[in-house]
Amino acid sequence: MSLIERRFDPDNLPWQPDERSPLGRPVTVSGSPTRGVVNGKPVILAGTNNYLGLTYDPRCIEAAIDALRRHGTGTTGSRLANGTYTEHLLLEAELGAFYGLEYALTFTTGYQANLGMIAALGGSDGILMLDGECHASIFDGARLAGSQLYRFRHNDPADLGKRLRRLGERASDTLVVLEGIYSMRGDQPPLAELCAVARAAGACVLVDEAHSFGVLGRHGRGAVEQFGVEDLVDFVTGTFSKSLGATGGFCVSRHNLGYLVVLARPYVFSASLTPAVVASTRTALTIIRREPALRERLWANAHRVHEACTELGLLRTRCESPIVSVVLSRPENALDIWHGLIDHGLYVNLVAPPVSPGNYLLLRCSLCAAHTDQEIDGIIEAFRWLAGEYGESILHL
Ligand SMILES: Cc1ncc(COP(=O)(O)O)c(C=O)c1O
Repeated sequence: MSLIERRFDPDNLPWQPDERSPLGRPVTVSGSPTRGVVNGKPVILAGTNNYLGLTYDPRCIEAAIDALRRHGTGTTGSRLANGTYTEHLLLEAELGAFYGLEYALTFTTGYQANLGMIAALGGSDGILMLDGECHASIFDGARLAGSQLYRFRHNDPADLGKRLRRLGERASDTLVVLEGIYSMRGDQPPLAELCAVARAAGACVLVDEAHSFGVLGRHGRGAVEQFGVEDLVDFVTGTFSKSLGATGGFCVSRHNLGYLVVLARPYVFSASLTPAVVASTRTALTIIRREPALRERLWANAHRVHEACTELGLLRTRCESPIVSVVLSRPENALDIWHGLIDHGLYVNLVAPPVSPGNYLLLRCSLCAAHTDQEIDGIIEAFRWLAGEYGESILHL
């Protein structure tokens, strides 16, 4: 069998292409961050990462259109070549100012921000200590680095401490990587304890705030702000693809990131952010800074859905984020449930291993500041149908 035959043999695929599969299914969105059409059915979108609903904010759209007209559709080059425009530098300065930190770098995606930063920081002679449920971009950064790699038990400061102690003096060659909110189950880390353990061992710390930027903290600076650990964290990474409503990624730090520019391969070898994305992101950042009401609305929506799901017997966890994940116990009826929810007007993510942690199947519902009270009612009604029809298929972790 040739390589092509092996790669494209349906028996070797990790999933079977199936007309009922959620993978890559088109979601038609037009005119609203919360409404779309899936399988020809009108649905409330509650499976996006559009936490603040900014994808349709007229100010972001106008800024992007204006940048398109003035600067064109793409930069066609890496930041180190022709791809640094004044606006990239302004966005970086604004991100740094938002955190009160001197240094900021932007990347073309959040995935690349983690890949580039972690690979460059870890290097082939460093040690990376990752929470076991970190995102794939973090693990891929470790692979690209070729660093010595350890994972500690998810959200477990004692396990982190034990593993750092085993490293002895080499603990000070270690970068500990954490997230502000874990994307699949929506749980927060015990960040103060984890940072204290890492610092006590002499390790440095990077926190990926992909899902917590704009969501946690009084000013929206994420988990580092909420847990009061901004001084204990060396690097914060994040993405523009969630609460900022575009695509792109960043790292901010009090350390001089200038040295990393030539080491972070995704920064060096990939075209920079397009002018339209830079412009809409700068506007979205201003909105996040000036309008904390958006965050309050997001949390009110999250609490309503979380409480309703708890009353319906679908959840037993605390509400720690705008992500409400219901765990399914049986793979056999997962697709029926997911399609049933669409038929009841609700789109959520059906997440299976290896994307979900453990071996769980998750119905991942994520809330948005733009969901209206009626839409929240609609989300709850669809979950009521789920609890009535498939209550016995729900697992409590
Ligand atoms: C925790 C985490 N980090 C990084 C990323 C990558 O972000 P992006 O989609 O901007 O590449 C994601 C994306 O889902 C994520 O969940």
